[in-house]
Amino acid sequence: MTHPAFADIDACVFDAYGTLFDVHSAVGRSGKALGDKAESVSALWRQKQLEYTWLRSLMGEHADFWQVTGDGLAYALAAHGVEDSALHTKLMNQYLSLDAYPDVADCLSRLRNGSKKTAILSNGTPKMLHAAIESAGLDEQLDLALSIEDVGIYKPDRRVYQLAVDRLATEGKRICFVSTNAWDANGAANFGFRVAWMNRFGKEPERLPGELSAVMTSLEELPGLLGL
Ligand code: 2OP
Repeated sequence: MTHPAFADIDACVFDAYGTLFDVHSAVGRSGKALGDKAESVSALWRQKQLEYTWLRSLMGEHADFWQVTGDGLAYALAAHGVEDSALHTKLMNQYLSLDAYPDVADCLSRLRNGSKKTAILSNGTPKMLHAAIESAGLDEQLDLALSIEDVGIYKPDRRVYQLAVDRLATEGKRICFVSTNAWDANGAANFGFRVAWMNRFGKEPERLPGELSAVMTSLEELPGLLGL
């Protein structure tokens, strides 16, 4: 049964890190040296990575997501008393081949079989995105991988979401946007996309502008929302 908000959708646009790819799989795979600090390092790494995107955009001091991800990791390791440049390099390289969540491939296939375009819209650099897509074996499942590097400012700036409208040559209300990052979901809804928040971690909704049309706990639910 098609959800009324998703009745006229041409394309499904996905956030990458946290939504399609598990950002904690880098430490999960190569963080054994961190012992019982591993989970805390990974959480602080993600927190600082995102904080730096927002702060750099507000400061007008753009640096790409590889730089910001490296800076966030340097902060997280130092905050835990870990001085190990080899580990920093190893964890950064893992970021190029993060695990895709198990519900991703089947969801993308079902959308494409239902004649929906599929795309990524992400803070990641083109190099990071192509590496992650390639290593997860998703290259045949995605029509486009759009990076904020084409507009030089981070989400949730409106220019980022406008990039998807321009490149997909459709209207915002005909794009279904999916993100696990609630602030990104709100930003996209506020811009004018129809948004399904992928609440993987049972988080509290943000108190931010932008009305979400649906909340999912698995990507398995998405094709059904579009009547597929
Ligand atoms: C992404 O842009 C928000 O980091 C997330 O992929």
